[in-house]
Amino acid sequence: MTIYRDIAVRLRHARRVLFVTGAGVSADSGLPTYRGLGGLYEDAITDEGFSIEEALSGPMMAARPEVTWKYLLEIERNCRGARPNLAHEVIAGLERIIPEVIVYTQNVDGLHSTAGSSDVIEIHGNLHLLHCTHCRFATRVETYAGLGDPPLCPKCFAPIRPAVVLFGEALPEAGVARLEAAFAEDFDIVFSIGTSSLFPYIVQPVLWAKQSGAATVEINPAETVLSAHVDFPVAAGAAEAMGRIWHALLADT
Ligand code: OAD
Repeated sequence: MTIYRDIAVRLRHARRVLFVTGAGVSADSGLPTYRGLGGLYEDAITDEGFSIEEALSGPMMAARPEVTWKYLLEIERNCRGARPNLAHEVIAGLERIIPEVIVYTQNVDGLHSTAGSSDVIEIHGNLHLLHCTHCRFATRVETYAGLGDPPLCPKCFAPIRPAVVLFGEALPEAGVARLEAAFAEDFDIVFSIGTSSLFPYIVQPVLWAKQSGAATVEINPAETVLSAHVDFPVAAGAAEAMGRIWHALLADT
């Protein structure tokens, strides 16, 4: 329990907090992760003979959108009806007691915003925002139910696609700029939750914050490259750990 109390003490005195999150935060809402046991990339080769990374890539979307859409539809089906869990809710709830709470997420499921977080940088985009690959048509959908396979633009009949970052594509400039702007001021505490921390743009913000004196926390049942570098490595699930931190925070106020 002490580690949760120690983190709660840091949070109580914090004015600026950054949460870096990945698929593990949504695992407690029943969504599959990408890697690890039962993860989407466990069956490395698709029925079409491509790796899942090739199937979910920008070049594949351009050449054979039906292949990419097959897996996008699967990802969306897994998200459909999912509700935020205690981890999303605690992160959103912290806005009531901490002046600035920024969420920098790789998740495309939109659950941080659904939970009420108001400052969310979706660095891999959002599944619910669709746009045409040819014309300027853009729309927001709650679900993919009833979409064609692959879905076509109602205006020009070119394939449409979600505003997510596919393999081989650049990160959204606006998201990168918002993260850079967020680092103009120091953070007091930074959390990395539920991510395998495979990408430099996910690991670096935690290390930058540490260098500038922020306390660092990782919440993940498995070890990652960050585990040995953070001040508070918490080997637990996101909902359980964030629930305990919230409890410790309330108990001490
Ligand atoms: P991964 O699937 O790579 O990693 C999920 C992490 O969550 C692992 O480290 C697990 O140990 C951890 N985990 C599992 N259950 C958990 C729980 N209940 N609580 C906390 N942690 C848990 O997911 P990401 O790191 O998000 O990108 O993957 C990064 C990116 O890889 C995704 O955004 C996606 C994928 O390619 C794109 O689609 C561009």
